[in-house]
Amino acid sequence: MCGIVGMVGQNQVAALLVDALKRLEYRGYDSAGIATISDGQLGRRRAEGKLVNLETRLKAEPLAGTVGIGHTRWATHGAPTERNAHPHFCNGVAVVHNGIIENFAPLRAELIAKGAEFHSQTDTEVVAQLLAAYRAEGLAPREAMQAMLSRVEGAYALAVLFEDQPEMILGARSGPPLAVGHGKGEMFLGSDAIALAPFTDKITYLDDGDWAVITPHSLEIYDQSGAPAERQSQITQGATYVVDKGNHRHFMEKEIHEQSEVISHTLSNYIDFAEGRVRLDSAQLDFTNLDRLAMSACGTAYYAGLIGKCWFERFARLPVEIDVASEFRYREMPLPGRMAALFISQSGETADTLASLRYCRDNKLAIGAVVNVRESTIAREADAVFPTLAGPEIGVASTKAFTCQLSVLAALAMVAGRQRGELPEAEERAMVQALIEAPRLFNEVIRKIEPQIEALSRDLARFKDVLYLGRGTSFAMALEGALKLKEISYIHAEAYAAGELKHGPIALIDENMPVIVIAPHDRHFEKTMSNMQEVAARGGQIVLITDEAGAAAAPLETMATIVLPVVNEIVTPILHALPVQLIAYHTAVFMGTDVDQPRNLAKSVTVE
Ligand code: G6P
Repeated sequence: MCGIVGMVGQNQVAALLVDALKRLEYRGYDSAGIATISDGQLGRRRAEGKLVNLETRLKAEPLAGTVGIGHTRWATHGAPTERNAHPHFCNGVAVVHNGIIENFAPLRAELIAKGAEFHSQTDTEVVAQLLAAYRAEGLAPREAMQAMLSRVEGAYALAVLFEDQPEMILGARSGPPLAVGHGKGEMFLGSDAIALAPFTDKITYLDDGDWAVITPHSLEIYDQSGAPAERQSQITQGATYVVDKGNHRHFMEKEIHEQSEVISHTLSNYIDFAEGRVRLDSAQLDFTNLDRLAMSACGTAYYAGLIGKCWFERFARLPVEIDVASEFRYREMPLPGRMAALFISQSGETADTLASLRYCRDNKLAIGAVVNVRESTIAREADAVFPTLAGPEIGVASTKAFTCQLSVLAALAMVAGRQRGELPEAEERAMVQALIEAPRLFNEVIRKIEPQIEALSRDLARFKDVLYLGRGTSFAMALEGALKLKEISYIHAEAYAAGELKHGPIALIDENMPVIVIAPHDRHFEKTMSNMQEVAARGGQIVLITDEAGAAAAPLETMATIVLPVVNEIVTPILHALPVQLIAYHTAVFMGTDVDQPRNLAKSVTVE
């Protein structure tokens, strides 16, 4: 994770670097730092914690210079202290790094044996030390860079300054992305195009294994072997995005409220509104003759995948093999017969999801990717890209990307059902109609349930543990609900398939354990109600999330019943995401946690 930036040109860069880092803070916020060269001397400012601390430091101790690099950190090796904050210096070399240098321990031992003194506990410092050692041996900057890159293993995006080269930044990428931005008489480096959006929309992405030399007027790119390489530049949409909270207290709140709009925007890519059917031309993957579909993702995207699995199996009779990407990549899963693979990722950069994609590609599977960032590595490595048009998601806890992922998966499952002759036209039309109406319902529902949930959240905030239950797609939603609540409110939350309750978790039920039951009036309803009765009989406090039909049929008094409209079953999970997100959001707000940047987390996870 971590975000890196670099700038070289005619302007003073310190404030601009901080501005770019603000747009990367979603990648990590344990510490931040910048380095510049001024009057032939490297200088740096670093601070623990969020960027505002670095800004305060820079106000007190400004830093001059028209070339510089910057970093916002998500700690891997070494505590999030100022000493471990990037940039790391060594004898005229400054380095910022996103990723992990896996062989840092032997390299560090080797350098120490030769007399090097280390000043941090980070893996990154070996990069600075190696570069300084090669320069001391007389290697020119490019040679030193190539020699260093031949020694380090792992995942990295790097930006490097050499004190004796005040008009040059070197960058390198192996794994995490790195974008070069083209300005007029100035050039930029950044972990993504959004970081560079205020400065330029002309971007060149480095390929995996590339390294680059940028000066105010030039860009040279070399591939892994050191041979000069050509990479196409492109105009990105990053610049058009406004990254602010509008009238909302938090990005998460804004993103929850934006869902009606972004779902509608996303669906327009997959649905022929005039015809009232899914657009077959939106499926660049042919599901017709598949025996199986492999799916994988991490975090919230994985839960979207679990719901997608239910849909593909039910509406297209297509068996789906799904696993979290960190397990999938190492399972050595046999991939026999006619299979395709589908990966889901908001950022398109999650290391485990990317590795799973590469495993399937090496096994010759056709690869589809549901991604939010069009220029991401996962999007670029997939055969077919199914974009979610959620716009930049800044809150670390995913909300609008999740419901857009569900919208795309719903459309793809229908496409697959149609291609395989398993989804009758009338059923498809009914589902499409329901999807078309979903964005409007979102707005209505949010107005209706948010005040109720705000009040309920005050009660929930008293508890230490919360249990979520559901069956079918509502089990996946229960998992998402528990994840949302624990990640932003720090209340321990767990989800169980409602039928599993009696196999263990029921032992936990007492008056101190609120149980959030997600039970729309679907074919699982009666069974889930029986499980709810089992909870009530043991004094558990129930919060029921259901629809109007379910509320009418629910047999019990509850702590709260949140009632949604009755909708087609393809829309049910999309709509049920709303109360689940709002419960987490308002509970966290009530508890006073840092909603958009919860402790220890980061938005884009580019390490294993
Ligand atoms: C992190 C984020 C989650 C996200 C997960 C997968 O854990 O905090 O919100 O669901 O990564 O990320 P991706 O970008 O692949 O969807």
